[in-house]
Amino acid sequence: MLSSELIRKKRDGGTLSREELHDLIDGYLHGTIPDYQMSAFLMAVFFRGMTFEETTVLTDLMLHSGTVVDLSSIPGIKVDKHSTGGVGDKVSLVLAPMVAACGVPVPMISGRGLGHTGGTLDKLESIPGFRTDLSVDEYTAVIRDTGLVMIGQTKEIAPADKRLYALRDVTATVESIPLISASILSKKLAEGIDSLVLDVKTGRGAFMQREENSIALAKTLVAIGTNMGKRTVGFITSMDEPLGVAVGNWLEVVESVHCLQGGDSSDLMEVTYVLGGAMVMLGGWAPDIASGIAMCRDVIRSGAAYERFLALVARQGGDTSFIENLEKYPISLYTIPVTAAEDGVIQSIDSLEIGLTAIELGAGRSRVDDAIDSKAGIVFKRHVNDRVEIGETLAVIYTDRGDILTHAADRIQKAFRLGAREVEKPPMIRHQVDAGGVQPFRPGG
Ligand code: URA
Repeated sequence: MLSSELIRKKRDGGTLSREELHDLIDGYLHGTIPDYQMSAFLMAVFFRGMTFEETTVLTDLMLHSGTVVDLSSIPGIKVDKHSTGGVGDKVSLVLAPMVAACGVPVPMISGRGLGHTGGTLDKLESIPGFRTDLSVDEYTAVIRDTGLVMIGQTKEIAPADKRLYALRDVTATVESIPLISASILSKKLAEGIDSLVLDVKTGRGAFMQREENSIALAKTLVAIGTNMGKRTVGFITSMDEPLGVAVGNWLEVVESVHCLQGGDSSDLMEVTYVLGGAMVMLGGWAPDIASGIAMCRDVIRSGAAYERFLALVARQGGDTSFIENLEKYPISLYTIPVTAAEDGVIQSIDSLEIGLTAIELGAGRSRVDDAIDSKAGIVFKRHVNDRVEIGETLAVIYTDRGDILTHAADRIQKAFRLGAREVEKPPMIRHQVDAGGVQPFRPGG
């Protein structure tokens, strides 16, 4: 069938067969279907959706558009985690070495910052020398040697996703459950995992702001992952406020190192321990999530998780002296406090605004080819339900961009909503989604 006929079929609400979807994906990768036709198709999917069967087929086609890594020679159940993206979300940096220190091999392919959200790759690359562009052979060697590996999507892994993702980013077709599901799962299933934990964010700073959409996304991801033979567990977690105390690449590495050394960033570690507990359970080292969490706490307390992070940094070419001596890193030209404009109790911190302001400070990209300033970002000094007085420091801005200081400070100040009394915060972990359905989160379950 002509490509325009396939676009029309989806535009009119039809269901595409495996052959039809294959023709589209294959034609796009081989240059017979141009960007403008693929964009039209993506927009048709955005509005019309896809059946579960179509989404599964699309995932499978994208997965097999490149190499599917075989890690079967590495002993153990390989488990990874994927987050749908958030602000201050440095969970992977703490989680991967922590879970590896519990005995579970963790192969992780991560992404760059996207829109207002940060990306694990940009954070890792802020460590001088750290290489994320490993070949498939190097990737396999690193996980064999250190029990974990953290890289970016290569040309070989799910190339269809790489191309489609870039196109979706500029055609306003990112927020589609079938497209997000196929995108995430195609690259995760290509990295050689046996099981997957999903952190599906919900709230102001998430791509899916409404909880019911986050649940629908998690259900689709879990169902497809399970269908493809991988034990998959999802969690709906809160992204109303930035996670932890830092937003910005190196600043988030610093916070992660503190957490790996046993320092607490409570909301960050609450999420990290639950995801870690689930990974340890799926990896076969604990009978349930609660026991997995206890093991994770032990490896943080003993220093084994931190040692594993240092080993990973060294193995991937990073200069560990910056991790062992965090003060050695260069600091921004401007470090400016943002103060409270009035007395009151902090009722919310708008994570979307914070993420967008962090980009302006240099911590993220407005265009794909923008350079990032690793030092730039924001560190929070006060949190939701803290009582503050006028003039008290709420946060500190780090940037080299002197021209935007006043504007950025104003934007951050307004992102803090102050009121008369404390608010009831929804739980960080809202729901657990697995093959049994959607339940309120219970670590013993
Ligand atoms: N993360 C991905 O990898 N893909 C999407 O489509 C959205 C978030």
